[in-house]
Amino acid sequence: MYEIEQERSSWLGSVLARWRSYRQIHRILLIFSVVFTIFVLDRYRIELAGTFTVPEPPINETLTVDPFLDQRDDSMAQAGNSTLGFHAIYYINMKARYDREDAMALQSYISGVDLTDYPAVEADQIDPVGMPPTHRPMMLKVGEKGCWRAHANIWSEMVRKKLPPVLIMESDATWDINVRPIMSDLNKHFVEFLKNINSTPVHDPSYGSKYNKHNAAKAHFRRDEFTNMTIPDEDLPPSPPPIEYRSDDPWLSEHWDLFSLGQCFEHPQDKDINLIYHDPRVPAGKDYWGEKLGNQRVIRRSGGITCTTAYAISHTGAAKLLLRSALDLDNPVDLLIRRLTLSRDLVAYSVMPPPIAQWEYRGDVGMGERGAQSDINGGKHKDTPEDAVMDGWPVVNNTNSVWETKRHHADVAFDKMALAVAWDEILPDGVLANSWWDPNTRD
Ligand SMILES: *[C@@H]1O[C@H](CO)[C@@H](O)[C@H](O)[C@H]1NC(C)=O
Ligand SMILES: *[C@@H]1O[C@H](CO)[C@@H](O)[C@H](O)[C@H]1NC(C)=O
Ligand SMILES: *[C@@H]1O[C@H](CO)[C@@H](O)[C@H](O)[C@H]1NC(C)=O
Ligand SMILES: *[C@@H]1O[C@H](CO)[C@@H](O)[C@H](O)[C@H]1NC(C)=O
Repeated sequence: MYEIEQERSSWLGSVLARWRSYRQIHRILLIFSVVFTIFVLDRYRIELAGTFTVPEPPINETLTVDPFLDQRDDSMAQAGNSTLGFHAIYYINMKARYDREDAMALQSYISGVDLTDYPAVEADQIDPVGMPPTHRPMMLKVGEKGCWRAHANIWSEMVRKKLPPVLIMESDATWDINVRPIMSDLNKHFVEFLKNINSTPVHDPSYGSKYNKHNAAKAHFRRDEFTNMTIPDEDLPPSPPPIEYRSDDPWLSEHWDLFSLGQCFEHPQDKDINLIYHDPRVPAGKDYWGEKLGNQRVIRRSGGITCTTAYAISHTGAAKLLLRSALDLDNPVDLLIRRLTLSRDLVAYSVMPPPIAQWEYRGDVGMGERGAQSDINGGKHKDTPEDAVMDGWPVVNNTNSVWETKRHHADVAFDKMALAVAWDEILPDGVLANSWWDPNTRD
């Protein structure tokens, strides 16, 4: 009995052992097949992906394949970058104007614009001996000489280093808080405008330039690839390159000397060479030489600007202005630009309403008394007297702004002037008067 039991149990034991070893094999097989499946799935993951995910909507061929549109997007993105598509933004400020420096800092902070300080030329740095000749002696005030020199220092640097185009701003500049998208949008239409007017690159006198008219007039040769001999090239001088969107130079600076983005007035000459486009950030109602504008901006061939609040300049423009003023400094800087545009020696374009404008202090907050509204007259300044008219302050409490655009600059139209909305951006729940001194609690 015991034996039988033992036999039976040994038989059972061997069945069990076999079964265990099968289980072992099953386990090994299971592990192997899992590893294999993972391997296969990984191999064909990309091919399989489509079968497991919801299919994407059909791709719009016109949007994805057209390289022109890709280039346009890149160009527009660069035109709306923190230097607005220029190599740099230089801004000129007098040493004493900390107030303007602060206004600049606040605006660039909330609108994402990067500025590079460029020191102004102060009255005590002007010595007649270092000023160019002029056929109209005593025309320029010392403040105007300093102002011209500050601009001329930038032109000179551009010419010496052959810099890509820069945007020059004076320190009382203001702009819409959405200036970057505004410039992006402007870029799209500006390139269209240059195409429409069949623009060609301006004469570029810099050494070795391909757009140098004098070089182009000479015979051109190329090397034959088989004989390695020089033969005259029928195709040269090169036909102007097609006007295309470019991200390395979104404003196509070969095509202009000056591009004004902040003039306060402009002459009507060439006003009909223009392109008017829809821009929802322009309040409707401006007047373009008798034409009522809606939410629209005008890109135009400049007739000659007044005010150098903000203008882009190329090295060709810098060379022209530096030469013209080195030869005869007969006008303040903005009129020099204006006259050289009127004579059509300067290839200049502008935008109206300008994306950048001048600010001044609102009335009756005590700043007029200090002579803070302009730097051109220079000289000593007095502080606000204690009995000054202060009627502006309740308005400041209601509007949260001491700044407004210059009252008589009729072409200016902002949707959201950056300085005017700075308080709402930085202290959205703040009420100015809540932090005023309280005569009741004397605290
Ligand atoms: C594709 O995009 C173009 C350009 O934006 C547009 O005109 C066209 O209607 C679109 N086509 C489809 C099928 O969505
Ligand atoms: C903005 O774009 C211009 C043109 O491509 C470029 O030269 C400039 O460096 C860019 N600015 C910044 C801050 O990258
Ligand atoms: C072609 O000629 C130029 C000038 O003589 C020489 O410098 C160059 O090496 C030549 N190229 C070939 C491929 O022979
Ligand atoms: C300031 O403006 C707030 C509303 O923005 C108003 O409640 C308050 O009375 C004003 N204070 C003064 C002193 O004008």
